[in-house]
Amino acid sequence: MRRFLIDTDTASDDAVAIVMALQHPDVHVEALTVVAGNVGLDQAVQNALYTVELCGKETPVYAGRAQPIMRTLETAQSIHGHDGMGDCGLPLHGRTPATGRGVDVIVDTILGSPGEVTLVCLGPLSNVAAAVLRAPEITEAVERVVIMGGTGVHGPGNVSAMAEFNFWADPEAAAIVTASGMPLEFVGWDISITSAIVTQERHDAMLAIGTPLARFGVDIAQAVRRFALEHGMEGDDLPDPIAMAHAIDPSVAEISRLNVKVMFGDGGQRGVMEVDRMGFVGGEPNVDIVTHYPSDHFFELLFDAYRT
Ligand code: RIB
Ligand code: CA
Repeated sequence: MRRFLIDTDTASDDAVAIVMALQHPDVHVEALTVVAGNVGLDQAVQNALYTVELCGKETPVYAGRAQPIMRTLETAQSIHGHDGMGDCGLPLHGRTPATGRGVDVIVDTILGSPGEVTLVCLGPLSNVAAAVLRAPEITEAVERVVIMGGTGVHGPGNVSAMAEFNFWADPEAAAIVTASGMPLEFVGWDISITSAIVTQERHDAMLAIGTPLARFGVDIAQAVRRFALEHGMEGDDLPDPIAMAHAIDPSVAEISRLNVKVMFGDGGQRGVMEVDRMGFVGGEPNVDIVTHYPSDHFFELLFDAYRT
């Protein structure tokens, strides 16, 4: 049984990724720690609690940071909808998170089981960076750190020409985590737009599954889907779910291990990945960057979760 700790800024694609982990027979989700990102912290906490309840689980949900390390939060509600879950009328309020701070839970869970916990990061890295600064020893104790973030080796940005939202929203946190020495595996937005697009055919196949979880996954994505179709894409993409697929089954991924830094500051460099593609200008390689993840395998894992 693999042990996952999931850090999330729970909006629609995070929720689908959480469903994939909660419903996978070989994964035990220790806890969800929530960070502000797609939506404000309180809404992200409610979205996470709703998703856990929908899956019929008792997984504890902890509130983490409400702000980036050094900046004011800028959300992605223009993409995901005001509630982050497609504004489709779900009752995303009134649930109570577990007592405790998300950053402390990250530290305590990893140090409590050295070498056994995979940290899956689905949002800005504010909680994870704070945990590394509070307890650097987690960098040696964590088994794997799978991060949905960045733009891969060559990918485009989605919040600026060169930057992906999770790294852009809190670039200082992304820089701290990238330089931390943890066993990092990046699944960038490039992988999402090449291997995780919900085409009309896949959308219809999801609806045909007919289960409450499949219906949920389709309904909460409607805001992102509308945005994607209006901007010339073949459908909404699923960045957090394909990162979760890699966390669940890394065996089918193609990887490049390179030196990566994340730039901070403002303007066009904010949150941009500086990747030493030549392997001799940037220093020791520190990140396994996923350069390909088979689309069919990803959708098999996703549909398996939806069928539960
Ligand atoms: O850039 C994609 C990332 O930003 C995903 O994690 C999505 O949920 C948003 O947080
Ligand atoms: Ca996310």
